[in-house]
Amino acid sequence: MSLQLDARQRAMLAEMGLRFVLPDAGTSEPQRGVMPAPPSAPAAKPVLPPKGVSVSFPIPSAPAPAGVDAMAWDALETAVASCQACPLCASRTQTVFGVGDRQADWLIVGEAPGETEDQRGEPFVGAAGQLLDNMLRALGLDRRAKVYIVNVLKCRPPGNRNPGPEEVAQCLPFLQRQVQLLQPKVILAMGRFAVQALLGTGDAIGKLRGRVHRYQDIPVVVTYHPAYLLRNLPDKARAWADLCFAQAVLREAAAAAENARSDKVLDA
Ligand code: URA
Repeated sequence: MSLQLDARQRAMLAEMGLRFVLPDAGTSEPQRGVMPAPPSAPAAKPVLPPKGVSVSFPIPSAPAPAGVDAMAWDALETAVASCQACPLCASRTQTVFGVGDRQADWLIVGEAPGETEDQRGEPFVGAAGQLLDNMLRALGLDRRAKVYIVNVLKCRPPGNRNPGPEEVAQCLPFLQRQVQLLQPKVILAMGRFAVQALLGTGDAIGKLRGRVHRYQDIPVVVTYHPAYLLRNLPDKARAWADLCFAQAVLREAAAAAENARSDKVLDA
């Protein structure tokens, strides 16, 4: 597979530590000196699986806050800001609703706000966020255009501990409504808590990546959490391959929608 990245993209990838990356999302070891297919030339046409989500991971169910499933964006943001459904409300500085373009094709889902996010009220603004921003830029994306970024939890767990199952259950209706309102063309689930919340599986990221899953009938691509990538440099290459794969999935979905539109016009 030949390398077709421009100088700007190469510089960004180098900044991320991505000089040698694997050619695809398989389980083989990274192949030195081979770059993944760039987003404009995906290696393989992604195959979308049959529709429907199978939920097997036990996230307890919690009653949705009244009316959330009918709320518009601003009402939803207000409901999140005043939420007291779990004890995290007592330790948060503020809630972290999400950031980006409310017409975005991409929805990126992380875990929970950390200290910087809790202070600034915006997801992924610490070190992990800088890595995410660099990866997005290498794809020609920006956190405020074409992309919307959220977390499973809207409040910071004290000391950055893992989200508890009850906290995830209480917060999930907000994420569900964000997905319904946004209707993204692709969802990137980063890390195990995003995967568990969206796909209901406790399977390892390594087992789930490189395939298309579905949530609310929307294609979901699984990848590593950027905070994990900061500690596991070799997996950055796999994460870059996952982003390229998600880009290919999005293009495929957009082309299918365009074809369906043309067919309708011809039939009319
Ligand atoms: N990690 C996350 O999952 N979300 C953030 O907003 C920051 C770090």
